[in-house]
Amino acid sequence: MSDPVLDRARAVFDRVVSQRRDFHQHPELAFEEVRTSGKVVEWCRELGLGMRMGVGKTGVIATLKGSRPGKTIALRADMDALPIQEASGHEFQSSIAGRMHACGHDAHTAMLLGVATVLREVEFAGEVRFLFQPAEEGMGGALPMIEGGALEGVDLILGQHMAPFQPTGTIAVTYGPAMAATDFFTLKIYGRGGHGAYPHLSVDAIPIAAQVITALQTIVSRTVDPLQAAVLSIGTIHGGFRSNVIAPEVELTGTVRTFDDALRHAMPERIERIARMVSEAHGGSHKLDYTLNYPPVINHPDGAALVERVAAEVVGAANVQRIAPSMGGEDFAYYLERVPGCFYWLGCRPTGVTEAPNLHSPHFDLDERSLLTGMHVMARAALSFLAG
Ligand code: NI
Repeated sequence: MSDPVLDRARAVFDRVVSQRRDFHQHPELAFEEVRTSGKVVEWCRELGLGMRMGVGKTGVIATLKGSRPGKTIALRADMDALPIQEASGHEFQSSIAGRMHACGHDAHTAMLLGVATVLREVEFAGEVRFLFQPAEEGMGGALPMIEGGALEGVDLILGQHMAPFQPTGTIAVTYGPAMAATDFFTLKIYGRGGHGAYPHLSVDAIPIAAQVITALQTIVSRTVDPLQAAVLSIGTIHGGFRSNVIAPEVELTGTVRTFDDALRHAMPERIERIARMVSEAHGGSHKLDYTLNYPPVINHPDGAALVERVAAEVVGAANVQRIAPSMGGEDFAYYLERVPGCFYWLGCRPTGVTEAPNLHSPHFDLDERSLLTGMHVMARAALSFLAG
């Protein structure tokens, strides 16, 4: 049976792959996606799409209106790269030292341009809004996009992410909580410095910090319902000057991952209490700076069902998996706080490879055949929603 969407996706596939390689060679960090968004604007202009540039600094909102009024669906791609030195060895590997598209955002952006090209030639009712978002990696570019009107009148939003842990030709969906909140903190432990030979004349911040770290491990293991998910990881520890000096101060940083809103907001006080009590027990003190970062990604059942149904039609039901939530985070969460939708995984692990390097690895790589699947699923899902 012929599928006009697939035919059109096939027709634009080579161009999408070469655009992805071009983005890959020229990675740009958060809010610096000037060249990338320039290419996006060029492509969208060629398609005759309505456009707003410079949204959230480097973002682009492109609009494609159907032949009659109807619902509005937003499709989102992120554009930023990471401060990583690439080690993939590709001929099109990053031309910029210390920067790499190690999270597949080059592919997300190129695919969304492909989807726009496909939908430009198809009849539908309503509106498709293409969101080319800056700064997903840590700086929350979704928020300035939303402030810039990205979601005005939007009924549903979809986003897809490369999944090297899933085979090419598959789609993975999670209902409800899909990715965790990515909160983080800086915790300073203060003592009183002195000579290493005379500890009794000082307050040593090092053993206090060690006890605080140990006690913090009990938050997840002893205060969180075992059937709920939470992670507390200390990522850095810095303190002291040299072997014979008592450290006056230690700085710890860490990340806290949760799905449940009440638990999420209870975590700062639990960390605070342990840091305060343990520090004071030893004559020290503390200061906690806690940042509520990206909220959890919560997929709406309608959005997840739409993706699951369309993906089954496109890649076959056997290639659509429901998977467990990830403790990773995504600023797509901000969109889903405001409108229903779904963020899903696009398998990109090449055949014959059992363990592909994960996202954010300097060896990260993707099977470009997955870009055809990604375009096909996203375009069909948009059309299905607008028709339904
Ligand atoms: Ni990513």
